[in-house]
Amino acid sequence: MRRAAPAKFPPGPPARLRHWSAGPLGNDPLGFFTALTRKYGDVAGLRLLNFRTIYINHPDMIEDVLVTHARRYTKGRVLRANRRVFGEGLLTSEGDFWLRQRRLAQPAFHRARIAAYAATMVEYTERLLHDWRDGDERDAHQEMMRLTLQIVGKTLFDADVERDAQDVGKSLELLLEVGADFRRAIFIPEWLPTPTNLRVRRAVRQIENILYRIIAERRASGHDSGDLLSMLLAAQDDDGSRMSDKQLRDETITLFLAGHETTANTMAWTWWLLAQNPAVEARLHAELDAVLAGRSPALEDLPKLAYAGHVITESMRLYPPAWGMARLAIEEHELAGYPVSKGMGVAFSQWVVQRDPRWYDDPQKFLPERWEGDLLKRIPRFAYFPFGGGPRQCIGNSFALMEATLILATVAQKFRLKLVPGHPVVPFPSITLRPRHGVRVTLESRQPAKAGNLRLRTEPAVAD
Ligand code: HEM
Repeated sequence: MRRAAPAKFPPGPPARLRHWSAGPLGNDPLGFFTALTRKYGDVAGLRLLNFRTIYINHPDMIEDVLVTHARRYTKGRVLRANRRVFGEGLLTSEGDFWLRQRRLAQPAFHRARIAAYAATMVEYTERLLHDWRDGDERDAHQEMMRLTLQIVGKTLFDADVERDAQDVGKSLELLLEVGADFRRAIFIPEWLPTPTNLRVRRAVRQIENILYRIIAERRASGHDSGDLLSMLLAAQDDDGSRMSDKQLRDETITLFLAGHETTANTMAWTWWLLAQNPAVEARLHAELDAVLAGRSPALEDLPKLAYAGHVITESMRLYPPAWGMARLAIEEHELAGYPVSKGMGVAFSQWVVQRDPRWYDDPQKFLPERWEGDLLKRIPRFAYFPFGGGPRQCIGNSFALMEATLILATVAQKFRLKLVPGHPVVPFPSITLRPRHGVRVTLESRQPAKAGNLRLRTEPAVAD
């Protein structure tokens, strides 16, 4: 529950910030930032050799960096170091160039356009379920990765990438493992031919090859299917010039990767949370059976699938796929009374903020019903920010929410996913937050309750 926020920022002259070593961060970043906040409150200084970062934990301070003073910052060093993967794509480019590309891509994410993707999302999920049998054992994370890759391939590039899923999965795993290592990001230049850098180059090339194939096929067919790829291919500068192949590659690889792994993680964590919270699961099933009565979900059902939406919201609160973010100051800034000098980093974590008891009762509990009232209005804007915020807010926000809710409804209507006993499910905070060894589940097919026997529970489900 929201307690009174502290007076916005301490008045008076800039406070002095002591910097502590960021050395132990590498082993357990989630535990490190949680402990840091417990010990030092909303502001702490971190140092890694001569690189200084101010770690902030109050939503108002985060808003100050992401929204109010966004122009004083660029993306942080970890994302910038991953330019070998994303190039000058939307996630990593800056300034006027970024703005132009963002405007270009935006129409593919407009409400009406996204609405047209709903049927594809359900259709591909149902295709996945055709292979599922009662009693099968699966890795829910891998299944979701395969599914979301196919959805992004079809909706944004009108391409069938089923046969590529395994290659992309393996390459991506390596890129995430290496890309999140902030010591490497800061100290090892990407042009150095170290064994790891060479492996990374190979992984990038593998994904690039798939994208170049899709681009070549589209160019050859000359067909304009009105999807994002068509828009990018048709886009022209004021002088009439078109996007170079390199630029196209950067934009498509960004959307291809940013557009599926995050949603797959959300789904994997959601199945894991549901399996441990039978009361929540039962309430979800009741809603699905009452609203859908056995038929496939569609766009129009979403307003009626409110509880399913809350399940996704709550899952992303506890297991935010983007678990932490950073910025690099390009101008001086006095942040919460502390001086941020040019070249200094600012970092903050969704994992920590979204589990803060100042904003959430029982913050460690999975309680989708907490979102039924006006909680979002009562907490500060940046007490819940799985999609970031300000001008660099996730472009795929609505796409992802719709996709996650439709996948949840389509699957949960037909199957329960029960955890395989003894399989460790461990959060792995790479650039995104994924389950390190996957989420192994046994499938149990379920029949929607018969119409007439349906009753939506109204009392809150209690999560353990
Ligand atoms: C649950 C799913 C998702 C989560 C949690 C998520 C999270 C985020 C976050 C936190 C950012 C901001 C990064 C920053 O400011 O440093 C971001 C940016 C971005 N996301 Fe997502 N995302 C998701 C799904 C998607 C999807 C489905 C797409 C595309 C289809 C997408 C494409 C992008 C792009 C292109 C950016 C860069 C936007 C810009 O800077 O203009 N994301 N995402």
